[in-house]
Amino acid sequence: MKTCRRGRGEKKTVKDLYQRNIDYLRVSITDRCNLRCQYCMPQELPLLPHGDILRYEEILRICGIAASLGIRNLKITGGEPLARRDAVEFLAKCKEIPGIEHVTLTTNGVLLSPHIQAMKNMGLDGVNISLDALDPDTYRKISGRDVFAQAWRGFLAAVESGVPVKLNIVPMRGQNEGEIVGLAALAASYPVDVRFIELMPIGSGSGCAPIPGDEILALLQNVYPDLSPDPRRHGCGPARYWLSAALKGSIGFIDAVSHNFCDTCNRIRLTSEGFLKPCLYHSEGYDLRAELRNGADDEQIAATIKKAIRTKPKKHAFYDLNRIGERRAMSQIGG
Ligand code: GTP
Ligand code: 5AD
Ligand code: SF4
Repeated sequence: MKTCRRGRGEKKTVKDLYQRNIDYLRVSITDRCNLRCQYCMPQELPLLPHGDILRYEEILRICGIAASLGIRNLKITGGEPLARRDAVEFLAKCKEIPGIEHVTLTTNGVLLSPHIQAMKNMGLDGVNISLDALDPDTYRKISGRDVFAQAWRGFLAAVESGVPVKLNIVPMRGQNEGEIVGLAALAASYPVDVRFIELMPIGSGSGCAPIPGDEILALLQNVYPDLSPDPRRHGCGPARYWLSAALKGSIGFIDAVSHNFCDTCNRIRLTSEGFLKPCLYHSEGYDLRAELRNGADDEQIAATIKKAIRTKPKKHAFYDLNRIGERRAMSQIGG
């Protein structure tokens, strides 16, 4: 298991106002997606004109400058990142950026199987796959598309490839509630981290019914009575992991609402239109695309990235639905 190194050695680090070390950039490369998940992008959303989406060279330039400041980890997301042409070649270029130590991908897995071996060969450090149900009908109802078989093929191909795999499940009351035990059991059959993600009230997520992480933990403790917290981080993300002798992998929880983890937040975000977001929850940020396309030099871009880190908000306020200012959908942010 690869673990995130937090600003060790003489390498550059960049801290925000609250002394959090910001070493992780989530990069959304497209607002398009081939699914219509209820909690993310249930209807057709207005899509960005192609010219408004950053070109790969523009993204790589921003990532290179961010790496020179202290960013070590890149997470490539979407929409669905594999829906963008030449995503694999782009991932390979991310791996070559000096200073970048981990490049990981978050995908719905539907388009994954033909590409995973090439990604393994170029050194992809991990792949996170959304899989909200094992029953194809439930999967279709949640994802809006009848493609469970393709997503499952993507999952199996990823396990087979040897790239570390994490599964993302967003449990929803009355939807995939009955699937939780079966999905958790994938960590018994395969060496993967099965993560339950508390639904966040962003975009259409606010119209769905969450299940608190602690309720799922209690349910799974009945099935795996020896579940115990794993003190290790699995990568560089906010999940907390639990182990059992019955599991080849682990069970993880990302409980952003009920167990706020903002005090250890290590990340900023770049949307596909080049908007640099210091925090998932807050709508404020910086228009890097305008700077790039107006001829800004590397120092100017670096100054904006540092400003974004310095002005990173302390925490979210998901508990107060009236205060959520972010109007972007999760698919437009990249999770
Ligand atoms: P790795 O473990 O490094 O692969 O990262 P990760 O778990 O953060 O990645 P992934 O893209 O799979 O995200 C899983 C879930 O965590 C998604 O629902 C994200 O929206 C959520 N998430 C990731 N980072 C943050 C964060 O900083 N704040 C909040 N509130 N949620 C986050
Ligand atoms: N709440 C929590 N997680 C979400 N995701 C998308 N929308 C939401 C939401 N409203 C998750 C997806 C994917 C990851 C990038 O973000 O399940 O795995
Ligand atoms: Fe970080 Fe904002 Fe997420 Fe909190 S809500 S963990 S500060 S990105």
